[in-house]
Amino acid sequence: MTDSSDLFSRFNVLDQLLSQTQNLWQQRPFHWLDLPWRQTHPALCTWLDELSMADLQALKESDSLMSVLHAWIPELSLLHYFSELPTISPQHITLPARIETGVPGRKWQQVCAFAGALTQPHPRPWLEWCAGKGHLGRVLGMMSSQPVVSLEWQKKLCDDGNQMAERDGVAQTFVHGDAFSDSGRALCQSAQSAVALHACGDLHVTLIQAASQAKTQHIAISPCCYHLIQSPRYQPLSQAAQQSMLVLEKADLKLALQETVTAGQHTQRKGALEVSYRLGFDAMQRHALNHDSYMPLPNVQKSLLQEGEAGFADFCRWAVAQKAVAIDLDDYDLAAFLAQGQARAALVAKMELIQQVFRRPLELWLCLDRSCYLEEQGYQVTLSTFCERALTPRNILIEATLIS
Ligand SMILES: C[S@@+](CC[C@H](N)C(=O)[O-])C[C@H]1O[C@@H](n2cnc3c(N)ncnc32)[C@H](O)[C@@H]1O
Repeated sequence: MTDSSDLFSRFNVLDQLLSQTQNLWQQRPFHWLDLPWRQTHPALCTWLDELSMADLQALKESDSLMSVLHAWIPELSLLHYFSELPTISPQHITLPARIETGVPGRKWQQVCAFAGALTQPHPRPWLEWCAGKGHLGRVLGMMSSQPVVSLEWQKKLCDDGNQMAERDGVAQTFVHGDAFSDSGRALCQSAQSAVALHACGDLHVTLIQAASQAKTQHIAISPCCYHLIQSPRYQPLSQAAQQSMLVLEKADLKLALQETVTAGQHTQRKGALEVSYRLGFDAMQRHALNHDSYMPLPNVQKSLLQEGEAGFADFCRWAVAQKAVAIDLDDYDLAAFLAQGQARAALVAKMELIQQVFRRPLELWLCLDRSCYLEEQGYQVTLSTFCERALTPRNILIEATLIS
């Protein structure tokens, strides 16, 4: 488990390394027409130039990607060393079988892992933030025989959660309310353990702020969806992060979340086709409208994505209608633009391969910002993982105990 005295130095090291390597990960691959690192990392570009799509796919799924890239990006070994977190071996929880009924299997495993990973030497009443159906609260209430207040925005989830709590004989009260409201924040009290499993962006940040203001004795969160924030850019919480040179846009915050999903072959083919069509259309609109920047398109129905030139023409007709741009497709050589799209799809895959190794360090930077903030508010904080990433990639646990 990370000692709280390590947190600031760990943050500073990661911050420095991420700042140094910023031009490798803080890019929008769809916006580029060539690798942006020809001057800064020429040897890396030469290596990338040689890779086929099959090579890229294999590297993306390979465990050795980090060590391969280390040859050109030496910062990676320290970045990953400082991004490693200890995994807590969760205490085994024995609960009556009925409590699991109605909970999806993976969710149940996540809840048990989270509950089993908490250190709670002094059991206190629980506050469960953004509770959903309150599975975590129900388990914690049953384990500790302490009352639980579960705050949730959706009425139906509160009703379902209430029924399950009654069924299992847990003293769990659902508050149907808004975590951002004054009355939501007022649920935070001192003699309490406040927990949030996968409360998105601003929601878990609000808990951290409201609970530390209320001097809540114990706070445990597993953050997710860092990009779901109201401000256009990330607002650092801690003084440490406020001094950072990094400015994180929502796209950067999303990068911290993306995972290598090994999709089926059909899905992979459709995905690749869509990328090449989007980029082929982009090449055409840049030419036709004399417009030298990327034109994003909305989500497209997958049934519109048919292979071949006719399929690309259909996609372009759809795109022209969506963006209401004056492009007469008959005036253009669609095959040539499709070929450009395919070449740019390979470029995107290469840039995303490089970004991939920066995702976890970026997520750690965000979690360390939260942890440093809590420490600045008088808490002792530990950072760890409460389960394997295969169970949920959002497996980081921030646990804070108020130093009395
Ligand atoms: C990702 S779910 C997590 C639910 C639960 N903690 C779990 O792990 O199963 C986030 C929950 O936050 C709730 N939520 C969203 N906005 C909210 C708000 N403003 N106030 C309270 N709850 C909110 C959603 O309805 C949803 O149930």
